[in-house]
Amino acid sequence: MEGIFITMEGPDGSGKTTQIELLKTYLEEKGYDIVIAREPGGTAIGEVIREVILNPEHKEMSHMTELLLYASARAQLVNQVIAPALLEGKAVICDRFVESSAVYQGIGRGLGVDTVYEVNNYALGNVKPMLTIFMDLDADQGIRRKKKQAELDRMEQEDLSFHERVVEGYRMLAKLYPERIVPIDAMLPIEEIHKKIVDEVEKRFFAK
Ligand code: TYD
Repeated sequence: MEGIFITMEGPDGSGKTTQIELLKTYLEEKGYDIVIAREPGGTAIGEVIREVILNPEHKEMSHMTELLLYASARAQLVNQVIAPALLEGKAVICDRFVESSAVYQGIGRGLGVDTVYEVNNYALGNVKPMLTIFMDLDADQGIRRKKKQAELDRMEQEDLSFHERVVEGYRMLAKLYPERIVPIDAMLPIEEIHKKIVDEVEKRFFAK
């Protein structure tokens, strides 16, 4: 069996984690061993980098430092977790991946999408997502959901206009790469969203 690599993207609070759990169960029923990873993090080294990036005290962090730290955590995750799992024929689901950098650092921070993909090419090597689900949710809705939770991290503390640029960025990427990035309305009921994701996965990986 060949490996499958699916990434889940969307603004903060768009319900990615819930959908990843449901997708995991579905793919297990299809007979796959599943690896779930989250970004930034997913490895011991990546988790340390995550703390450095998201620490609200690190207000002086330059945008380029931020981009390179996310890319470093990603390089480690690809090397240590994703590439080996795919070689073993597993299904890898990643909670955020390179499109997060494209929209948060490329568009939100203004570093440019091309720069972000260029830097990340070094981190990714030939490991590319086969399908990217974009949980499409207006920024204010996402923030509202997040504020109900614990303390906000350094990225979540950005103002609404930053998060609006992020969502617009995702929408733009989904239009640019429609064959890979699939937008799904994150306001729909959980089960309905899951069904749409399953339809996409069936179409791409299990169609006869
Ligand atoms: P995460 O904890 O996964 O947030 P959430 O649970 O809301 O998805 O991600 C941490 C933050 O890091 C999130 O605000 C998005 C941001 N981020 C980037 O800015 N660039 C990146 O490349 C990645 C992977 C995440």
